[in-house]
Amino acid sequence: MDLPSRARLVLLCVSIFIFLDGVSSIDIFLDWNVSSDLTIAPVGQKQLVITINGMFPGPLINCTTNDFIHVNIFNNLDEPFLMTWNGIQQRLNSWQDGVSGTNCPIQPGTNWTYAFQTKDQIGSFFYFPSTLFQKAAGGFGPIRVNNRIVINVPFDKPAEEFDVLIGDWYFYEYKA
Ligand SMILES: *[C@@H]1O[C@H](CO)[C@@H](O)[C@H](O)[C@H]1NC(C)=O
Ligand SMILES: *[C@@H]1O[C@H](CO)[C@@H](O)[C@H](O)[C@H]1NC(C)=O
Ligand SMILES: *[C@@H]1O[C@H](CO)[C@@H](O)[C@H](O)[C@H]1NC(C)=O
Repeated sequence: MDLPSRARLVLLCVSIFIFLDGVSSIDIFLDWNVSSDLTIAPVGQKQLVITINGMFPGPLINCTTNDFIHVNIFNNLDEPFLMTWNGIQQRLNSWQDGVSGTNCPIQPGTNWTYAFQTKDQIGSFFYFPSTLFQKAAGGFGPIRVNNRIVINVPFDKPAEEFDVLIGDWYFYEYKA
């Protein structure tokens, strides 16, 4: 084997490796309808909560390291809405982080798609609205970033998993 063909073989192996490594991450597409259409009374006083697809708390994002998440958010509130993905590193991607200053809020009656990768991380995180005190009324939910099967973690696979979200609840509506 002469040198150029050996170099070509190495290049082929490297590309196969990159390809195999690449296929382990998937694209996850989510459509979320953010509304204020539900009242609950956890402290004896009925008040509106912010729901996602009718759910309070919002749906779980269950993904794996390096997955690409696309969340198309429709804002049905009567005010702007900005979602932040707490704990997701957003490497070289800060304009997807949903905090005032890096990202414009989604205007009422319109939609916008957040797109980010859970690059090189695992763990439990959560998302919440980052402006107007809306997080006091809902719009939040859990994110799980599972490890890739090729990456060992120093514990057995849990028999069961559940997400705990802890927050304050106020007597007054968040707009009051
Ligand atoms: C979103 O929710 C609002 C209020 O509940 C509803 O009027 C609208 O049809 C929903 N849109 C979609 C796309 O589900
Ligand atoms: C979340 O994803 C993991 C890995 O793909 C899977 O094993 C688990 O069953 C999923 N859990 C839920 C609640 O969807
Ligand atoms: C708004 O939603 C439509 C329908 O799902 C989608 O085609 C479009 O790309 C979304 N727009 C943005 C800015 O995300």
